[in-house]
Amino acid sequence: MQAQVTAHRSTLSEKEDRALASMLVAYTVTATLWLLFATAIGILLAYKFGAPDFAPGAWLTFGRLRPIHTNATFYGWASLALVGLAYYVAARSSGTRLYSAKLAWIGLVLFNVAAVAGTVALDLGYNDGNLEYREWPWPIRLVFLAALVVTAWNLIGTVARRSTEDIYLSNWYTIGGALWTCIIALVAVLPWYQYGLGQVSVSGYYMHNAVGMWFTPLVLGIFYYALPKVLSRPIYSYALGVFAFWTNLVFYPIIGAHHFLFSPLPWWLQTTAIVFSVAMLVPVWGGSANFLLTMRGRLRDLVHSYPLMFIFVGVIGYLVGSTQGTFEAFRSLQEVWHLTNFTIGHSHLTMYGFVTFAIWGGVYALLPLATGNAPSRLGLSVHFWMALVGSFIYVIALSIGGTIQGLDWINGRPFIQSIQDMQSYWVWRGVGGALMFLSHIVFAWNVWCMSFGRSRAIAPHALSNVEEPAG
Ligand code: HEM
Ligand code: HEM
Repeated sequence: MQAQVTAHRSTLSEKEDRALASMLVAYTVTATLWLLFATAIGILLAYKFGAPDFAPGAWLTFGRLRPIHTNATFYGWASLALVGLAYYVAARSSGTRLYSAKLAWIGLVLFNVAAVAGTVALDLGYNDGNLEYREWPWPIRLVFLAALVVTAWNLIGTVARRSTEDIYLSNWYTIGGALWTCIIALVAVLPWYQYGLGQVSVSGYYMHNAVGMWFTPLVLGIFYYALPKVLSRPIYSYALGVFAFWTNLVFYPIIGAHHFLFSPLPWWLQTTAIVFSVAMLVPVWGGSANFLLTMRGRLRDLVHSYPLMFIFVGVIGYLVGSTQGTFEAFRSLQEVWHLTNFTIGHSHLTMYGFVTFAIWGGVYALLPLATGNAPSRLGLSVHFWMALVGSFIYVIALSIGGTIQGLDWINGRPFIQSIQDMQSYWVWRGVGGALMFLSHIVFAWNVWCMSFGRSRAIAPHALSNVEEPAG
């Protein structure tokens, strides 16, 4: 079982191989365009904190641009990139072609139509109000739901055609993630929950499950495939991976109310959310230990393999960000951090330090295998270091600033004082954000080279250890 992921060879015909590669390229390229767009908006938002009167037109107000940034990063960038990788992993680890290439393309169109329509609607001022991460008007969210259903169906169909007896661990995570998200997205549009305290409760449920039952399992699924590939060694413990899968499923769906501590939601529901937030340490530490132990004794390879470096940062982002989340859920700490910029730091530590770095690791490990083209080592290193340093500055600045902000409020200082205290931290966030954005341009260039560039041998110094093992 453990050898499975390193042992399979392409059993596809050349035509099927090409079709799979084109699908991965199409998802990755469109996702990259969304990353560039969404983070250009992110930079503009960041600078508006220092210069609020800059770009004052209605279309460029903070209130419209903020949900455009969050929805475009969630559903344009991260979702598209992860679905492309999930398809590739499903087909490769099952030793078969996609159940339906046509459905994969239909899904791609639906995801993009939803993201474009959602962006335009938000910018024109049409939105579903205070429903975080589901501000798109509901008919548009139905298009996104349709894309999810198509994806789940296609992933299941692909794995059902597998040439092996077992379902490889990655597919548990990616199929689980796609199915759970169909349910979450459905609950999010059903009209009878969307008022009063029910709405608050569903908001917490939706918000946290979007990150915990969609992005997290998809990323973990990619780790379980890409890491053994990059290292040419099996995952440390298959059983631990299965254990983390089930505990994730048991604990995650019930922690959403930690977003609304001290709200009128029943106290027992808030306490339950806190208890399960602590329980989340089990799958988080179990999963992280599994990845780190898979890398044991091979940390020196980090220097030679950028895909591995990106994955390593992603694993650390998962471990540190989620553990931070557990502490953040305690009432005593929520008192300080709730509604402050500390939470924005946590969001970027997790969605950037974990999810985005993991996607980059997956793309750099797998796209060259699909297309035969590798990016230059210079491109990889410039991308890696700019993104790492930029996000480090971003997260540290907001974590310190957010704590000062919370203490100002607790100590009853005038609100304007908390704004003044934040100024320098917002400038640092702008500096970090600029580095992050520049790194995305380099990433886009690297994606171009991997997708359409001249065939470059998968260079021994950068990617030698990700070549498909002869098996
Ligand atoms: C150049 C890179 C980026 C910059 C400069 C940036 C900037 C920002 C800014 C200024 C905000 C609004 C903060 C506030 O309301 O106080 C924000 C919110 C947010 N961004 Fe980004 N961002 C970047 C990349 C990303 C990426 C890649 C993701 C996801 C993959 C992401 C996810 C989010 C989320 C989830 C929020 C809402 C946070 C919350 O409410 O807690 N950002 N970002
Ligand atoms: C599993 C352990 C985790 C726990 C216990 C946890 C806990 C929390 C808590 C308590 C908050 C609310 C902060 C507040 O409103 O004051 C929060 C916010 C957030 N978390 Fe986590 N977190 C975890 C993992 C993650 C992961 C893995 C991601 C991303 C993949 C993530 C993304 C976010 C985002 C985007 C927000 C901002 C939500 C908003 O806009 O209010 N978290 N988290």
